[in-house]
Amino acid sequence: MDVKNVKGTHDVYGEEANAYMEVENLMSHIAELFAFRNVRPPVLEYSEVFTRGVGESSDIVRKEMYTFTDKGDRSCTLRPEFTACIMRLVTQNKLYATNELPLKYYYCGPVFRYERPQLGRYRQFNQFGVESIGVNSASADVETIVLAYTILQSIGLENVTIKLNSLGDEETRNNYREALKQYFAKYIEDMCPDCQSRFELNPLRILDCKVEDDKKYIQNAPRIADYLSKNSKERFDEVKALLSALSIPFEVDDSLVRGLDYYSETVYEFHYTSQKGLNYGAVGAGGHYGNLMKEFNGPDYPGVGFSFGIERIVSVLTDDDLLPDVSNSLTAYVMPMDKSYVNSALMIASMLRVEGYSVDLCYEPSKLGSMFKKAEKKNSKYAIIIGENELESSTVVIKNMNTQVQETVKIDNLVDYLDELESSDHECDCGCGCHEDHECHCHEHKEK
Ligand code: HAM
Repeated sequence: MDVKNVKGTHDVYGEEANAYMEVENLMSHIAELFAFRNVRPPVLEYSEVFTRGVGESSDIVRKEMYTFTDKGDRSCTLRPEFTACIMRLVTQNKLYATNELPLKYYYCGPVFRYERPQLGRYRQFNQFGVESIGVNSASADVETIVLAYTILQSIGLENVTIKLNSLGDEETRNNYREALKQYFAKYIEDMCPDCQSRFELNPLRILDCKVEDDKKYIQNAPRIADYLSKNSKERFDEVKALLSALSIPFEVDDSLVRGLDYYSETVYEFHYTSQKGLNYGAVGAGGHYGNLMKEFNGPDYPGVGFSFGIERIVSVLTDDDLLPDVSNSLTAYVMPMDKSYVNSALMIASMLRVEGYSVDLCYEPSKLGSMFKKAEKKNSKYAIIIGENELESSTVVIKNMNTQVQETVKIDNLVDYLDELESSDHECDCGCGCHEDHECHCHEHKEK
């Protein structure tokens, strides 16, 4: 049977898999520097987490969720995003009761949306994101933008455009919704069926419509900037002033409304056009939300956060030749000269692995030359050869693949021998005894 992967999903392997791991590790590391801590909600949630959390008028809830009834007759959904899950996790486990505010969490993993697969758009993709919960201020909003910007810079995406907008408070959005309803009432019968239901549910969503024929109506629609309440305007001014003070470049884009219902006040998106000029869509996005935790019967805490799309980030890194250089390498490759020595090879590999060395072994012994080729291909620093003579004398031959120097070593002494080789390999050539082979930061060197 010729079984393929599900439409809209993709396999990750080889160099690309290394890139995912590196990018996710770097993101986590920087989030930790900003004092965010890791959380891992399940992939599967009861559907109401998203119908209540993300909102009935969003495309995600209306059209894109992978929802099914489980054997206990409960409606379950594969998460289409993380923010609602984090709210459920925090309220259910009462994390607010024992921790100082803001609660700062980061997460990473697959999300599922039944969208039309196209460039930069998958049905299963990975997000890395953060949520900062419990502090309602311009500085909390800005801290998340600084974190996202720092991450993007650190992975090599220098020319990121940050699009920024304010969706204002409740008063702002009520007034703005009214203005949109009045404006679109004249055109709505000529607009797409989606816009017609958006008109009833949440006219703000009309601004997200991608149908070409509707754009002529949308471009002249009232702008939210003209409806910001005094408080929201002050808060937005503060966000902009803080970003400028921190030298974070941004562009105000008052057409940015975001596709999820929970946002209010500050919203933002990160865009990057690779040198190939391909448009994958935003590499990340987020913003402030006011009432989400209340939806889960938690305290009335607001939050702010963002999520990156890892696939899109890896795509632009690939296009611009910026993928982290992670070559898989081994400390040693164990080469039995005969099939009957494979078990001994496995024992030796296991002994070295326990000591923290990365070691592989050859399961199909062949001519020495071709096994050396395999060691080279695997980027192994040493080859360890097990032959008849060696086994009789409980020794192995260990060869440095770089210098070609080889020695016979007792198996009992192999770990010490390798430790010695490895530490002398890293020893600083000034003779100070430190183990920094390239750029030495030892006390002696700093003094010089
Ligand atoms: P979002 O804009 O729906 O926001 O998704 C965030 C990012 O996920 C997007 O900017 C994009 O990079 C990536 N993404 C979205 N859809 C796809 C897709 N079909 N294929 C590949 N990548 C995709 C959220 O999910 C919010 N939860 C963000 C947030 C966190 N807001 C506050 N906190």
